[in-house]
Amino acid sequence: VTRTPERQAPPRRLPGRVSLVGAGPGDPDLLTGRAVARLGAAELVLYDGLTSRRALALAPGAAHVSVARRVGRKPLTQDRVIAMMVDAARRGLRVVRLKSGDPGLLGRGGEEAQALVRAGVRVEVVPGLSTALAAPALAGIPVTHRGLSAAVVGVSGHAAEGYGAILDRLTPGSATIVVLMGLGQRTSIARRLRRAGWPAMTPAAIIVDASRARQRVWSGTLGALGRRDGVTGREQPGVIVIGDVVAVRTPLEVFRS
Ligand SMILES: C[S@@+](CC[C@H](N)C(=O)[O-])C[C@H]1O[C@@H](n2cnc3c(N)ncnc32)[C@H](O)[C@@H]1O
Repeated sequence: VTRTPERQAPPRRLPGRVSLVGAGPGDPDLLTGRAVARLGAAELVLYDGLTSRRALALAPGAAHVSVARRVGRKPLTQDRVIAMMVDAARRGLRVVRLKSGDPGLLGRGGEEAQALVRAGVRVEVVPGLSTALAAPALAGIPVTHRGLSAAVVGVSGHAAEGYGAILDRLTPGSATIVVLMGLGQRTSIARRLRRAGWPAMTPAAIIVDASRARQRVWSGTLGALGRRDGVTGREQPGVIVIGDVVAVRTPLEVFRS
């Protein structure tokens, strides 16, 4: 006997809507056209710590609320942020949830979309330019290059559980490695790769504050990356690139018109 699964009543659709918008690396010039349109029409913008003031200025008709984790302030839980969006949708508002880079890459965009849909909120995702690709590009580093690398492996450097098993198994030199959220762990990451057979002379780079006026690029070797004598001073946010492609780094300009 086959049983028809009990139908769950679909959640009641709320009058408002949420756009999960990728803000790119920071410079509002790198927002997509759709992101600019959603900001222009927004009535509430919930933004993360890496959002630029200039991006918020594109939403003049909206209330701007920071949901960033801040030192000295109790962080808002993910549940709380979702509850704020559900509440706004219940009040019929057009909400923009602005996230750095792309919402789906280490940005909890998927979790938020699932929870909102479950609560009956209409949701869209507006993809953004991820810093995993934009930061190297802005530093003049192509993540693949004919004859040097035809593959890219991206990892979160936040905790060894996230990157350890992948980096341990990666054949030395077989791909370009891009690490997000990894500046604090760069000694361990470099040590791990060295243990797995990556030569100390493998080119490596760190791009900090990509696309912003204070963008800085350090380039050197995997050995030096591990010795922590790369970027000094304020260290967040930054992207690490490891692989031969760093050696073909080309000085580029940003044309302002
Ligand atoms: C929580 S993750 C979010 C990643 C984002 N969703 C993306 O697609 O780029 C935050 C990390 O993104 C990277 N990041 C974000 N903005 C950056 C920028 N302007 N320059 C360099 N790295 C950046 C850093 O590695 C930072 O630790």
